[in-house]
Amino acid sequence: MKYLPIILLALIGISCNTKEKATPQEKTWWKEAIVYQLYPRSFKDSDGDGVGDLKGVLSELDYIQRLGVTAVWFNPIFTSPNDDNGYDVSDYRGIMKEFGTMADFDSLLKGLHQRKIRVVMDLVVNHSSDEHEWFRQSRSSRTSPYRNYYHWWPAEKGKPPYRYSLFDVNHDAWMYDSATNAYYLHFFSRKQPDLNWENPKLRDEVYDIMKFWADKGIDGFRLDAFGFAAKDTLWPAFPKGYEKNFMPYYSMQKGLHDYLREMNSEVLSKYDVLSVAEGAGNSLQDAHDLVDADRHELNMAYPFDWIDVPKPEGYDLVKLKGIISNFDSAFRQKGWLAMFLANHDQARMVSRFASDAPEFRDLSSKMLNTFILTMRGTPFVYYGDELGMSNIRFDRIEDYRDMPTLNEYQRLKNTGGDLRQFIENLKFGCRDNGRTPMQWNDRTQAGFTSGTPWIKVHPNYTSVNVAAEAVDSTSCLNYFRTLTKLRKDYPTLVYGTYTLLDKNNPDVYAYLRELDGEKILVALNFTDHKADVKLGLTVAKAGRLAGNYAQPIDQKFDYMRMRPYEAVVWKLE
Ligand code: NOJ
Repeated sequence: MKYLPIILLALIGISCNTKEKATPQEKTWWKEAIVYQLYPRSFKDSDGDGVGDLKGVLSELDYIQRLGVTAVWFNPIFTSPNDDNGYDVSDYRGIMKEFGTMADFDSLLKGLHQRKIRVVMDLVVNHSSDEHEWFRQSRSSRTSPYRNYYHWWPAEKGKPPYRYSLFDVNHDAWMYDSATNAYYLHFFSRKQPDLNWENPKLRDEVYDIMKFWADKGIDGFRLDAFGFAAKDTLWPAFPKGYEKNFMPYYSMQKGLHDYLREMNSEVLSKYDVLSVAEGAGNSLQDAHDLVDADRHELNMAYPFDWIDVPKPEGYDLVKLKGIISNFDSAFRQKGWLAMFLANHDQARMVSRFASDAPEFRDLSSKMLNTFILTMRGTPFVYYGDELGMSNIRFDRIEDYRDMPTLNEYQRLKNTGGDLRQFIENLKFGCRDNGRTPMQWNDRTQAGFTSGTPWIKVHPNYTSVNVAAEAVDSTSCLNYFRTLTKLRKDYPTLVYGTYTLLDKNNPDVYAYLRELDGEKILVALNFTDHKADVKLGLTVAKAGRLAGNYAQPIDQKFDYMRMRPYEAVVWKLE
């Protein structure tokens, strides 16, 4: 079995050190896109209730356009009781009350399209809210036509085989419901019952919902937790302790590819849409299978393999480079990747992958943005990262808002766990760090709201904010704009091949992008000290395209000495 990965690589015609020429990828808008991920709850509040809303986003469309991004992915905006900030949908065709109305959404869509910015929506259909009408009906009687929209286990059969819940306070995914003396399944919270994808009626309902939004004119779907949708409903017992590594038991189970092929033929193939699932299975082969155009499933893979590499004590850059380079190799000929270092489920990228110490925050944010915007794969940029927003690191549990975090705290409290250590860990990894309000200016609440924000504003808003950075030509924001322009000006950065240079260098990530004889070199120092990199390139001429230090680096391309968190982008001849 240990040779399996090698065989799989061979099967899909790839090798990490391949020198073969990539066949040119078919050109599509979503490969050329620069996606801005916008967490509506935290972007801009227009009515003073402390929660971001659609009118708030509408008031900042010019800001979004000036970033140079070409698509926006909205985290869920559908009707929801907000147990999990919208990832618990109670009406898939309605807009969350706090966010506004369908008329607001229509204006938003129109405004973005007028600015040539596409719209990608979250589709949360591994589970719904327990307040969705389907679930109300389902739980009302064992003979309800909606009973099989969800997974039920009759209590007279005893306790169901243990299933791990990621969010439940006891981590038990079966919740007893007295109305019909049965347990329902919830891989996430009790208020997020899992939908039963084996039921063709449920699948049709989902396709209708997708058509509803696609007919409105949206340009893409991001499928939340969809890797978990297929389940073995014979409910076999899983080995004791499986929850420590539950992915092989939960992700990409039998049936999933069939559901995706059906979704593709019913909906996706009929519209010119981006389709990306959260996560990309358990292997390179899984990732590739999800998006191989010949298989007619999705068109973009969003793997998590590199996102979990950083740890509070640091991380191994060679490992990070290896993971990303392997993915690139797997997608060299066919299939397409998303490229990202943060999202709403992560703490801030600068605090995890580089340094948010005052002397380095700006340089390191620019360096990481250089990476995202010069790599092969569609860049996904998380709101606020264009400014260099960083972790807030709350000291008190009372400041946290994230439901699974609060549940875990409660669980530890109930079981006598180490609460102090838990809070310390949250400062590095809790996703609330990545959800603090957008920092617009140095006025009250960073210009996010006139009321009390649903989660506290990072105290560094007085200097890290849009207004201040907009007028500073050397700011992170303006550097970000330079990079989005560069990506649009140089198709090499989109379609060019990627070759890792000085592979075992522990400090510097350097690579070459090449297309039709054009060569672009990117070198990034991921450390807070000077670092040497051996590029081994013979260069006749070089032009600097971007860099995060005002003074260009000494140009020598056999080797370079880079300054702390330095990023350079050169065109070579
Ligand atoms: C993944 C989403 O990204 C996350 O925010 C959410 O909590 C879970 N799925 C449950 O929907």
